[in-house]
Amino acid sequence: MSFRVAVAASGSGSNLGALLDAFPPRSGSPVEVALVLSNRREAGALARARAAGVPLHLLADPDSADEWITALRAVSADLLVLAGYLKLVPAGVVAAYSGRVINIHPALLPDFGGAGMYGLRVHRAVLESGVRRSGASVHLVDEAYDRGAVLARAYVPIEEGDTPELLATRVLAAEHRLLPAVVAAAARAGRPVPLDDNTVAEMTS
Ligand code: GRF
Repeated sequence: MSFRVAVAASGSGSNLGALLDAFPPRSGSPVEVALVLSNRREAGALARARAAGVPLHLLADPDSADEWITALRAVSADLLVLAGYLKLVPAGVVAAYSGRVINIHPALLPDFGGAGMYGLRVHRAVLESGVRRSGASVHLVDEAYDRGAVLARAYVPIEEGDTPELLATRVLAAEHRLLPAVVAAAARAGRPVPLDDNTVAEMTS
């Protein structure tokens, strides 16, 4: 029995692409990307889902918990991954899938998260703060949204002459290694589990 993953995305869906590369559909992999949800008809993520032959669901009302839950139940989802989903997921969904919703964020949470922290703004804030490293975090989504427990982090150095764009590219590459590692561990455990830094390093090298 494969571990069934639904992925919600509003944007280009490169993290969805990383999951589809790691766990190719219909390949007998222990993880099956069973559904892609989006609130945006033009999201690149939907095109990727279509190309991979993965069922997709364009949300008619992204604020309707019932719509989400019906779509998730229809594919017997074990896990919901938010991969660049830019709206709040209805609280009823988080409650119904408690401990089974994860999000990827392009910085080392709990720093550089929260309202307004998305896209290049995150990387600009990181560079302005003067920290020496950044990275990506995967965290559980709970009622407090950006404050759920961090499950795993991947680190990238800040380099001389970095711009928000350069840093974003380096962090995104780390995201593409981190997210499949967290999903693979969740599939083994049957639910999302914390990974220590050494485990992440082993799984992503
Ligand atoms: C990623 O940086 C992710 O951390 C953030 O949104 C971006 C999505 O990128 N939550 P993509 O659509 O997966 O390319």
